[in-house]
Amino acid sequence: MRVALIGFGNVGRAFARLLESKRAQYPFRIVGIHTARHGTVYDPKRLPVVPQFGEAAPTVDAFLDRASPDVAIEITTLNPATGEPATSHIRAAFARHIHVITANKGPIAHAYAGLAGEAKREQVEFRFESTVMDGAPVFNMVRNTLPGVQILGFTGVLNSTTKLVVAAMQRGLTMAEGIAEAQAIGVTEADASFDIDGWDSAAKTAALANVLMDARVTPAQVDRQGIGDLTTAQAVQYEAERKTVLLVSRALRQGASLHLQVKPEVVADTNLLASMQGTSNLLLLHTDLMGTLGTCCLSPGVEQTAYGLFSDLVDIARSV
Ligand SMILES: NC(=O)c1ccc[n+]([C@@H]2O[C@H](COP(=O)([O-])OP(=O)(O)OC[C@H]3O[C@@H](n4cnc5c(N)ncnc54)[C@H](OP(=O)(O)O)[C@@H]3O)[C@@H](O)[C@H]2O)c1
Repeated sequence: MRVALIGFGNVGRAFARLLESKRAQYPFRIVGIHTARHGTVYDPKRLPVVPQFGEAAPTVDAFLDRASPDVAIEITTLNPATGEPATSHIRAAFARHIHVITANKGPIAHAYAGLAGEAKREQVEFRFESTVMDGAPVFNMVRNTLPGVQILGFTGVLNSTTKLVVAAMQRGLTMAEGIAEAQAIGVTEADASFDIDGWDSAAKTAALANVLMDARVTPAQVDRQGIGDLTTAQAVQYEAERKTVLLVSRALRQGASLHLQVKPEVVADTNLLASMQGTSNLLLLHTDLMGTLGTCCLSPGVEQTAYGLFSDLVDIARSV
């Protein structure tokens, strides 16, 4: 299959390395890469892992026309407020009958129902496993292994930065020092307030609810409170009491309505949710037929995000 990448940052480079390492068993070929500032590169045979970029294509449309891939992978920078321009990039691919995979949660949090409808009309596949849990199976698990199951709600600890910041504050550091620690290991969004104020978790909550519960919401409709009010004194006190503060995402159907929230919760160290340290994340699905079941990933990194894209690609290759 011919693959084109829109965006070639940390995730794109890790994905290119992964494809190279699995080339003998999975003969996918990257035939074009388009970026914002580094330019564009094409090779109808197969691009190397470290390509030499040339002049930028004038538009994503022009890029897709020339690269002519079977699958486009949208991995540009997240715009949490609108999901753009990623949503338009995805639409440009659908309009050309190109399957799409994305790790960018913006389009799923803002425009999932519309995009899924367009993909269906154009008879192309649309996959997004890496958008919420860095590649750990959530959407593919539900689609492929839970037929007939209704998702009634979910509980998730989905934001790494806040966990790292709270852990630093429980060691006596300020919130600013905790954010600096998280930034040093590269897990924060470009603007860390997006994590601290709960917008990242709200976007993930909206994305999960849109896909798994047909919620048709945007992140602004999630009842959201971040950890910005936490003080070092409080964090140190919780540490002494063997407790911690977690930013928890919850979805709960109440009759015909669906309540979505992101709130800091004080939990005992022994609580299952508190066992997710650092970048580890956990999602529990509350279902009608399977009770509560979950997925977790211990210390995922960019290689796992790249794997989520790869698993989507393999899934598409098997289904078309
Ligand atoms: N990093 C992770 O572990 C992780 C985990 C889960 C999901 N994600 C999501 O995956 C996506 C990519 O993350 P990343 O860490 O690879 O980001 P990144 O390192 O900042 O790279 C972003 C890439 O997108 C390109 N880009 C930005 N705007 C563009 C536009 N309008 N047209 C074409 N290219 C554009 C950039 O071009 P230049 O190179 O020219 O600047 C760059 O190559 C994001 O949506 C992120 O939220 C990341």
